Amino acid sequence: MSEPTGAARRRGPFKVGDQVQLTDPKGRHYTFTLEAGKNFHTHKGSFPHDELIGAPEGSVVRTTGNVAYLALRPLLPDYVLSMPRGAAVVYPKDAGQILAFADIFPGARVVEAGVGSGSLSSFLLRAVGDQGMLHSYERRADFAQIAKENVERYFGGPHPAWQLTVGDLQDNLSDTDVDRVILDMLAPWECLDAVSKALVPGGILCCYVATTTQLSKTVESIREIGCFAEPQPWESMIRNWHVEGLAVRPDHRMIGHTGFLVTARRLADGVEPPMRRRRPAKGAYGEDYEGPGSGSGGSGDRG
Ligand SMILES: C[S@@+](CC[C@H](N)C(=O)[O-])C[C@H]1O[C@@H](n2cnc3c(N)ncnc32)[C@H](O)[C@@H]1O
Repeated sequence: MSEPTGAARRRGPFKVGDQVQLTDPKGRHYTFTLEAGKNFHTHKGSFPHDELIGAPEGSVVRTTGNVAYLALRPLLPDYVLSMPRGAAVVYPKDAGQILAFADIFPGARVVEAGVGSGSLSSFLLRAVGDQGMLHSYERRADFAQIAKENVERYFGGPHPAWQLTVGDLQDNLSDTDVDRVILDMLAPWECLDAVSKALVPGGILCCYVATTTQLSKTVESIREIGCFAEPQPWESMIRNWHVEGLAVRPDHRMIGHTGFLVTARRLADGVEPPMRRRRPAKGAYGEDYEGPGSGSGGSGDRG
């Protein structure tokens, strides 16, 4: 049985064409592709790639200036943070939340937009696997090209489950019987009509937005369209810890905000969303509330 796409590049001794992530004594990372006969240069000397070709992962190489570098393959979270970017990427912590709470499974039929730099596409492709389908829509041809290069560099070539279309999702979405739709864009509410036609009953819509105004407009628009169960909005935070002898405390710095996530399940056709048991908070929809049709929803940096 042949290995799943990309798996052979994740294990075994280093080979020509593999990505290598070096860690220097200060913990800084450098990523490059192994080529026979080439040298890797640092400001503290160089070493030949040939020293790593055939060596096990986790080897240590020394430059001509006697500085030691630890060599490992980058993990996907490392890779997406170091690859060339067109637009802001989905951070690994959010990609993990999306894979779990949008319930991405092997063989799933998934649609996503926009593609940006291809970070989330790579996570989704690994989760749906060779027997699944990921159809990604991106309105900007230049971003789609960057994403294609990033995804193919990661998997070592085209992924059999991946189709990439340049254009707006709401104008081009042609897929039917879609299990999951993931929207990472400025105005996901513009895609709800098209998405609700594509999703199977019980299918999941997952939106990733940067600002509270976008979050509000997304949730209210999902309620208004009427063919989804009650949307679930949340955010996640990761706090790293410093653990050294008696000094055990949270790191001083953390990534405080990346974005908000919302999931909603597609109802069967013709079904009315069940009434919510809890009444909205007093004043939530008072005279100052203008409804999801108003305003731009804010911009954040997730264009
Ligand atoms: C924040 S980026 C997506 C990043 C991507 N998810 C990643 O992980 O690298 C948002 C992208 O959505 C694209 N976009 C915005 N609205 C769109 C639409 N209606 N259809 C397709 N692409 C859209 C933008 O051009 C931009 O590249």
